Amino acid sequence: MTSTLHHACAKINLGLNVLGKRPDGYHDLESIFLEVDLCDDVLITAASTVTLECHPSVTGSVQDNLAFKAALLLQNALSAPDKGAKIVLTKRIPTGGGLGGGSSDAAAVLKGLYELWTHQPASTPEALAILHPLAAQLGSDVPFFLTGGVAYVTGRGTEISPLPVSVPWTVLLVLPDIHIATSTAYSTLGITQRVDNQGLDRLLRQVLENNGDGIHQFKNDFESTIFAQHPLLSTISRKLTDNGAIYAAMSGSGSTMYGLFTSVENAVAARSAFPNHVTYICRPIVPHVP
Ligand code: C5P
Repeated sequence: MTSTLHHACAKINLGLNVLGKRPDGYHDLESIFLEVDLCDDVLITAASTVTLECHPSVTGSVQDNLAFKAALLLQNALSAPDKGAKIVLTKRIPTGGGLGGGSSDAAAVLKGLYELWTHQPASTPEALAILHPLAAQLGSDVPFFLTGGVAYVTGRGTEISPLPVSVPWTVLLVLPDIHIATSTAYSTLGITQRVDNQGLDRLLRQVLENNGDGIHQFKNDFESTIFAQHPLLSTISRKLTDNGAIYAAMSGSGSTMYGLFTSVENAVAARSAFPNHVTYICRPIVPHVP
């Protein structure tokens, strides 16, 4: 029986501006999402019913796994209750750290099952028109992973403008043992005012043209409140820059911290400053330009 293997990669946020609270309770934001090559494996095999195995398990029950919910949602959307698949997830992306691992798995399942069940590619505008609303229903970070690469992300996180740029830096991820619920991170901000977007897409192009100059204009609005609760995070940020990072920040609502380095060697050298933390060295994925 033929199986297809999909790589579901993590993301980091370069800049995250929370612009205001929306009538639906979510927040409008703007951010640059960078897909990086730290990936889970999603193996999909045709079967008579939908099943999911996750190694190691990350949810109490399989039914709670976003990837399983994605499969059922697509089955329903395609009116295909008779279609099945055996899905095996091999997790490498740490969960609950602002790296989007669960969202990426869910997007990979949507794309993989769409191709298995319709025999059509999942990357066409017609396929994305079906998959995007399902992804947005699963979670604010899921739509980005349908196209991945580098994107300017707005709305509640579901409006995606892919950017055909290549980000040249090596990424060192540092994972403190701190877990922050996204909903708590947003409510702690206590947003009452609306602010304009900063044009992070324009800023990224300028920064890339100027070899990194101006990168410090990217800010993550969650940092001030979350760093106040967890001072270890600002210590990690400082340590990253003290050890050669051209830029250090938190990804999403945390708690993963990352540094950007001009070479793999510099990232490897900096890694030794974090002997008590889980660390990963990875690279931004070069976007597919259609
Ligand atoms: O969309 P997702 O399920 O990932 O969001 C989790 C929670 O984070 C939401 O219930 C909401 O409280 C908060 N959130 C938000 N604004 C966003 C994204 C998430 O307030 N743009």
